[in-house]
Amino acid sequence: MFENYEAPSDLRPSDPRFGCGPSLVPVSFLKSLADTGVELMGTSHRKPAVKNLVKDVQEGLRSYFNLNADATVAMGNGGATLLFDMMGLGMVDKSSAHFTCGEFSQKWFKSHNSIPWIEASEHAVEYGKGVTPTNIDSVDFIAATLNETSTGVMIDSLPKVGENTILAIDATSGGAQCPCDVNQTDAYFFSPQKVFASDGGLFVSILSPKARERALKIASDKSRYIPGIMDWKTCIDNSDKNQTYNTPAIATLWMLNEQIKLMNKVGYQAVQDNGKAKADHVYGWANEKSYLSCFIEEAQYRSTAVATINVDEKFNASDLCKRLHELGFVYGIESYRKLGKNQFRIALFYNITLEDIQKLTSLISHAIESEL
Ligand SMILES: Cc1ncc(COP(=O)(O)O)c(C=O)c1O
Repeated sequence: MFENYEAPSDLRPSDPRFGCGPSLVPVSFLKSLADTGVELMGTSHRKPAVKNLVKDVQEGLRSYFNLNADATVAMGNGGATLLFDMMGLGMVDKSSAHFTCGEFSQKWFKSHNSIPWIEASEHAVEYGKGVTPTNIDSVDFIAATLNETSTGVMIDSLPKVGENTILAIDATSGGAQCPCDVNQTDAYFFSPQKVFASDGGLFVSILSPKARERALKIASDKSRYIPGIMDWKTCIDNSDKNQTYNTPAIATLWMLNEQIKLMNKVGYQAVQDNGKAKADHVYGWANEKSYLSCFIEEAQYRSTAVATINVDEKFNASDLCKRLHELGFVYGIESYRKLGKNQFRIALFYNITLEDIQKLTSLISHAIESEL
């Protein structure tokens, strides 16, 4: 299906990248990186050029999220997946509770569940349903995913947790764009290849004093095995010196910093509003067309960062994705591979403009309606 579809040139988006990560990196970031010449790439990460870049990222995030002065911004290699294990091993005392609604939140649960001394519990809803994390007094760590990238579910609120409980939020795909008061969390972390428009491989973790203290306490417990790559003490000590845990991908830090600067020009609220405007457009379009529907039925859980739209079985969504890619018009809107749905998954990240989202929806309608 759609193999001979010809798209009207006036519906060509200004950039074809609508994927949920790695996502649209502005070409200007790549050029500005090249312009640093011999002063950054290929220099030591323990010397001022890279340390100043790390400091800019830390301070840029402090200002963007209006962080409390006592928050720690720690970074290292490995991305959010590494943090699942690093938190399980180094931040959970005895028990963690996981609110799951898709692949990534479940992966985090599975990571903790496989650590023999942790009692991990899963509070799951079926894929396509939303989840609201709540406080559970009997656990010392609560795990929730701000935006479940696989299904397009955004949590609608944060629980108030007790003084001995860490509230950890995986903000990998919703961070910077989905509503969340970071100061109400203890560990807010992300990989930067989504809204933060950088490359993968890095983790950023914003820690409250409570999370920092817990991590340092467990790190000092010599009876616990912690792999060298997951040592919170080194990670925190280095972040205090404006350094990453170990040798970072410098280009990744550069692009991350460029994006933070870009978003700081307008501020967190405006970035959230921008995501909401695009989400309203996409969900409105899905509700209006008889051959489309929103995968997430409960409106309050529909993400403002990743939209999942079901398509009538008469039309093969993956064939259309393939054709639009071939034409060079649109990349990356296939459904999450393990979900196996006839649907589009569309990133609404800050760098993807509303005008391009409008072109994308018109293009999909045009293609499907040409088959009617
Ligand atoms: C919500 C969420 N958590 C975790 C991850 C894993 O991130 P990484 O591949 O950078 O480890 C992803 C990746 O897409 C994600 O979307």
